[in-house]
Amino acid sequence: MSVRRVVARVLAVVGVAALVVAIGLGAWAWKSSLLPGSYNVMDYGRQDYGGGAIPPGGHAVHGGVSVDTLHGPTGRPDVRYRLVAQQATVRLPSGKQIEALTFDGTVPGPVLRAHRGDLVEVTLVNRDVDPGVTIHWHGVDVPNAEDGVAGVTQNAIPPGGSHTYRFPAVQTGTFWYHSHESSSSQVARGLFGAFVIEPREPAANSSLDLPVVAHELHGIETLGGRDGTSRRTVSPGTVVRLRLVNTDNAPKPFVLSGSSFRVVAIDGTDLNRPGSIDDRPTLRVAAGGRYDVELAMPSSPVALRVDGTTATLVLSPGDGGTVVPEDTAGANFDPLTYGEPTAMPFAASSAFDRSFTLKIGRKPGFLDGHPGMQWTLNGGIYPDVPMLMVEPGDLVKLTLVNDTSTVHPMHLHGHHALVLSRDGRPATGSPWWTDTLDVEPGSRYELAFRADNPGLWMEHCHNLNHAAAGLTMHLAYVGVATPFVTGGDAHNHPE
Ligand code: C2O
Ligand code: CU
Repeated sequence: MSVRRVVARVLAVVGVAALVVAIGLGAWAWKSSLLPGSYNVMDYGRQDYGGGAIPPGGHAVHGGVSVDTLHGPTGRPDVRYRLVAQQATVRLPSGKQIEALTFDGTVPGPVLRAHRGDLVEVTLVNRDVDPGVTIHWHGVDVPNAEDGVAGVTQNAIPPGGSHTYRFPAVQTGTFWYHSHESSSSQVARGLFGAFVIEPREPAANSSLDLPVVAHELHGIETLGGRDGTSRRTVSPGTVVRLRLVNTDNAPKPFVLSGSSFRVVAIDGTDLNRPGSIDDRPTLRVAAGGRYDVELAMPSSPVALRVDGTTATLVLSPGDGGTVVPEDTAGANFDPLTYGEPTAMPFAASSAFDRSFTLKIGRKPGFLDGHPGMQWTLNGGIYPDVPMLMVEPGDLVKLTLVNDTSTVHPMHLHGHHALVLSRDGRPATGSPWWTDTLDVEPGSRYELAFRADNPGLWMEHCHNLNHAAAGLTMHLAYVGVATPFVTGGDAHNHPE
């Protein structure tokens, strides 16, 4: 045999061997990515103690305090609601009809209101939504068992079933509720609504409090469930509070024109001394986030629209003022420098009990047997993601880093975090508390929160398609475990 042929043969053998190894590794990677039909979410997370104390023997994933014992108070509720999850055909003002999933037959579902200090009771009835539904109180720091996450804090409620949530309204502000069962499809199809907690003292007489939920239904942009332009008569001088809620998966660019205004709250927390804005900035509200804006109704029309769409809400002073104000959008509004600082229980200089870094990335791999470019959290593909471990009372620093080319609206359940800095620039405006924060490509946020609400809480991207594709993990209090499982007979699929 010539040298050449020998070399060729060796190369062929090596090539085949390499191929066999590659296929073997691929098969192993594929197989090891498969998720069982049912599993406890705590069995997978890599426990990360953030440099803080580790309980002797580590955290027991089973046993301990059950999530199911962390319910809201008993006693007589101050407000009571009943929501019926049902399929319905929704007719938009343009005449378009949409087969939706709804609460009480409408999209959005009814606005629920409570006052601070109320004990709220909501009974969820599932008429016909398969395989089940839950209600999560987005942004409301409820007791853990009332958090409404299928497979983590409860079982999904099947058609014909019902479930009662009870929690004290300890915050004031704009929140929303949505199903947290198959949420990527159920929320998109309409299972959501606004939830408002008002202060105890009544608002001024001539005021208008208007939740405005923006949602794209089957590709049609809607404001408050209406497509195109809707109008509302408001007498001049009225103090108008618009509660902007983004229930979609992408940032929502709201533009308000025709009046100066203030951004008075973000994610259900009032801002300190917010200044008057009159350069018509784009209010880019994160997916799942909320901005409250306040204005004094002028004697000419005011328009709120979602930039790049036809969805517009016109407030008109009544006398046939039909001119819609000119509406070119300005630069993005930036909460980092807006309003004035005031003393907070902690700051960047505080001594933190635990510090976590959560880096969002992307790499090729398998997710539950599916090959592709996958989202990663600290390098791991779901379920190989960190589980942030805390103890009650801990002061926690959380650094969010986005190493991808897509924005990720990161949402932490059960807690509000104070923004300390963005890309190394300290927050210098009003204290900015968030529960749903857009982490832009390449950016880095430092946040701080007090671990004051024991339980097992989701921390996930509120682009719910990203969450369903693995951008999801948990914040766990040492000693708390869940008896619920993902999958299983209850068909629990939180994402
Ligand atoms: Cu708005 Cu985990 O959800
Ligand atoms: Cu995301």
